Amino acid sequence: MADPQEVLSRRVQSALGAAFGPEFADTDPVIRPSQFADYQANAALALAKRLGRKPREVSAAIMEHLDVADVCRDVEVSGPGFINLTLREDWIADQARRLLDDPRLGTPAQEVRNIPLDYSAPNVAKEMHVGHLRTTVVGDALARTLGFLGHNVIRQNHIGDWGTPFGMLIEHLLEVGEDSPETDLLTTDPNAFYQAARTKFDASGPGQDEFAARARRRVVSLQGGDEETLRLWRELVGLSKVYFNKVYTELGVTLTDDDLAGESTYNAMLADVCEELESKGIAEVSDGALCVFPEGFTGREGKPIPLIVRKSDGGYGYATTDLATVRYRVEELKADRILYVVGAPQALHFKMVWATAREAGWLPEGVETTHVQIGNVLGNDGKILRTRSGAPVRLMALLDEAIERAAAVVAQNRPDLDAESQAAIARQVGIGAVKYADLSVAHDTEYTFDFDRMLALTGNTGPYLQYAQARIRSIFRKGGLDMSEARGEISVSEDAERALALKLLEFGPVVAQVGDLLQPHRLSTYLFELAQSLTAFYEHCPVLTAGTRAERDSRLALISVAFRVLVQGLDLLGVEAPEHM
Ligand code: ARG
Repeated sequence: MADPQEVLSRRVQSALGAAFGPEFADTDPVIRPSQFADYQANAALALAKRLGRKPREVSAAIMEHLDVADVCRDVEVSGPGFINLTLREDWIADQARRLLDDPRLGTPAQEVRNIPLDYSAPNVAKEMHVGHLRTTVVGDALARTLGFLGHNVIRQNHIGDWGTPFGMLIEHLLEVGEDSPETDLLTTDPNAFYQAARTKFDASGPGQDEFAARARRRVVSLQGGDEETLRLWRELVGLSKVYFNKVYTELGVTLTDDDLAGESTYNAMLADVCEELESKGIAEVSDGALCVFPEGFTGREGKPIPLIVRKSDGGYGYATTDLATVRYRVEELKADRILYVVGAPQALHFKMVWATAREAGWLPEGVETTHVQIGNVLGNDGKILRTRSGAPVRLMALLDEAIERAAAVVAQNRPDLDAESQAAIARQVGIGAVKYADLSVAHDTEYTFDFDRMLALTGNTGPYLQYAQARIRSIFRKGGLDMSEARGEISVSEDAERALALKLLEFGPVVAQVGDLLQPHRLSTYLFELAQSLTAFYEHCPVLTAGTRAERDSRLALISVAFRVLVQGLDLLGVEAPEHM
């Protein structure tokens, strides 16, 4: 157990039990980082009221029973009754040394849960826009982190692969020809294909043979299960998959074809979903459409908002599919916790779907559902990022530009490396910068997409963190040493050493927190702080030229732990760790 906060919590709790009786032994001792010591226990303040005694008296009683001699070198009551706790240097060093042998780097074991994780979810025959970039990158970081915490993460890529646009898309596919260069666009620039179909559809007049009419008939054949239509639909989906996988590979995202569970997956369940809602009296026909009016959702003038599950023409929609999805995830995937990494504007949709699913008995009390809301990515003009002409930005072009810009920086900083190594690093840095920019801000806030800022070598950026780990590699290279052999005793005497070691102990607790709160930016913030502690450490503590052999071995061991924490942390964010920088 390397987490100081946890260790101190337990110790203070047993003091509480001893001082005030067993019923106080599970009181939260409120251990917080302190300005005057490493931590402070604030429990006495709340307890004073409960006990009808003065806070300082309560603190004194806690102190009498507090047994922390092996962990703390200073314990004192301050202010109105805080207990300030200063850790012992040998304890910190010993805990840091233990991380060297711990593959989980101090990450606590959690009770294993089945977690369907809905993320990325681009739409077939459409460009993945920067919004999808963000749901993909944040979702993947959560998948990696929850997996590292030991959970059974079930990736669910809920792609938009069904619906009325497929009528026009299939007709357009037939017109341009299945083997035409236009069709090929679906794997490189799907928006161009989509827009061409859309333009024809919008321009087409009324006659029976008009494009729009054919497109509408095609929708009916698709829904009716016509074999040839389904074949054409599968072709569109297949070409889009090629495109999605290109983006995923370029991004280093863990999604594969096995994780695809698009909207069409649930087609066969939709009629049943509606029937069950109707027979349970949850859904009612209103203006020809089958609607649910879940409790607590009202619009203007208190009018209940409908969740439409079957349109008046008999068609099902996005909400019906998501209801079937919830039922499937609970019944078939045995979900304990269902997570949706989706744009913030869909918040109401999910709330209504879950409320309906709870009413229908498909979502038991014990199953938690969370919408990890994704904020917008803005351009320099403060509006949603688009190209100059107003079209959605081509994701591939964006990634290519990131790599190109990184290549210029690498060429400048490392002219000594051969072209192949430079290109490999440029890829890692360019992609890492884009992903990290997404992950370093709270997922539900907006941020401005700015290449210069995300590629900067200083500040809270991907390249800064990548550099921090590359610098440790280079220290070992310079010393002609193998990192796996840096296993000496750690001792901390300098302040900067102490601060670095203490920071390393925070890794596990932060990872656990990211898993609980679903906020990858907390890990980014932590890694940034760690990199800063390293910088301060180098300033005061020479490693290869340390005064004594023992000091040198200790520092080598310390930075090798830091290296592993940085690389593991970056990996949980899905950011690669270049050999050189
Ligand atoms: N395809 C949708 C979009 O692009 C996102 C789907 C999210 N997942 C879900 N279960 N509804 O907005």
